[in-house]
Amino acid sequence: MFSKYKKPGGADKAAAKPQLAPVPDATAEEPRKSLMKAMPAKAAEAAPMDKEKKRKERIGEIKLELHKALLDSLNLAALENATEADLRNEINAIAAETLDDMGIVLNREERTQLSQALFFEVTGLGPLEVLLQDDTVNDILVNGPQQIFVERAGKLELTDITFKDEKHLLRIIDKIVSAVGRRVDESNPYVDARLADGSRFNAMVPPIAVDGSLVSIRKFKKDKLGIDDLVKFGAFTEEMAAYLQAAVATRLNVIVSGGTGSGKTTTLNALSSFIDDAERILTIEDTAELQLQQTHVGRMESRPPNVEGKGGVSQRDCLKNALRMRPDRIIVGETRGEEVIDMLQAMNTGHDGSMTTIHANSARDGVSRLENMIAMAGIEMPIKAVRSQISSAVNLIVQASRLQDGSRRMTSITEITGMEGDVISMQEVFRYQRVGLTPDNKIIGHFTATGVRSNYSERFKLWGYDLPPAIFEPMVAE
Ligand SMILES: Nc1ncnc2c1ncn2[C@@H]1O[C@H](COP(=O)(O)OP(=O)(O)OP(=O)(O)O)[C@@H](O)[C@H]1O
Ligand SMILES: [Mg+2]
Repeated sequence: MFSKYKKPGGADKAAAKPQLAPVPDATAEEPRKSLMKAMPAKAAEAAPMDKEKKRKERIGEIKLELHKALLDSLNLAALENATEADLRNEINAIAAETLDDMGIVLNREERTQLSQALFFEVTGLGPLEVLLQDDTVNDILVNGPQQIFVERAGKLELTDITFKDEKHLLRIIDKIVSAVGRRVDESNPYVDARLADGSRFNAMVPPIAVDGSLVSIRKFKKDKLGIDDLVKFGAFTEEMAAYLQAAVATRLNVIVSGGTGSGKTTTLNALSSFIDDAERILTIEDTAELQLQQTHVGRMESRPPNVEGKGGVSQRDCLKNALRMRPDRIIVGETRGEEVIDMLQAMNTGHDGSMTTIHANSARDGVSRLENMIAMAGIEMPIKAVRSQISSAVNLIVQASRLQDGSRRMTSITEITGMEGDVISMQEVFRYQRVGLTPDNKIIGHFTATGVRSNYSERFKLWGYDLPPAIFEPMVAE
């Protein structure tokens, strides 16, 4: 078949797939009893097969085969300038030929579906496109061309999707970053970008990425999880939600603390729904992810310097400017550096009700993180002064965690109550109490109040949030 998009020299079908690691010989020795718990066979299993979806999967398999055939046959570089009609014809022709070779007969509808999917794969983000359009996928993690993991419902799964080779992967990365005016290459080996649909994208290419490019995508959810969803999913209880509503509405300064992917941004976004619609809110983020429901919202996104090292606008720059923009509340997506100073100052000086997230594993750890950030920003203040600044700025630390079974929960709500000597004093008001593990490694536990009286009870009452005392009573084990 003649084609202007066909590669000279034909397909290199011989390209061998890398071999999987050899399976250890299980019959070699008598099994020995071990005190250790058996490890799961694999860290991540491929998605389980669903019988009812067989037909769909057959199409999926054929598509995969065809996609490989297309990649082998098409001259990808020449595609960039092809018209849509040209490209569709070309794809249909190659697909028909390959289907013939494979001896597969499809009905008309299946053919249309298939050619549409193939078109998206070639013009969109290649093999990633299917995952981007799959709403059950939260995160996409690429470790080199042959290994793509996804996170579904809190669990990592290895997919059977691959790139043809590193060059193919690099081409897709390049397509993404050049669309936002950035560049990634040996001298600029990592990059952050936002996809057209709002998803957060990070890539690191060789030689820094040793075994092939590393890509991480946090999918943008059009419908962010709200308070009700989070309560329904067991992230926290209705009682905790009532408490948080009072805290946000009465303008306490709140920090959401948590590890990577623990649900910090989701929690922050959900908490923001408690802000009165009449308030002017300014949000500052490195990658704009927050979706506030209020009418009066000004969104800012920081910008890294360009290749010449110019034009950078940091979160701190945005924050400083935001203070001149008459905000009622300031929300910083994640505080991770020098902007901490301005954030704490804002919290202390009339912009109460401000919120941010930090990367930390507990409320106490969160406070240490803040102290470290202040020290690293080059502020020379006695530790006591730093702590007193933190304790008067921050009212509440909400801890988000991704537990080992993949569930995401608010494992603690802690109030900062002041200083005792040199130490910041805090009290936990709610916590997630773990009690055990089911045989299939699901965590058993429940939320409970700790029994302490909230430091802000009076404030809540004065603002019209008269919380029933029962929500602060600890749960009695049955
Ligand atoms: N309680 C929850 N139940 C189910 N999914 C959740 C829950 N909380 C968050 N998620 C999902 O988990 C993913 C990670 O959440 P999110 O972006 O809020 O985490 P993060 O802590 O801000 O991550 P990062 O450290 O990468 O910024 C998202 O896809 C989100 O939709
Ligand atoms: Mg986040």
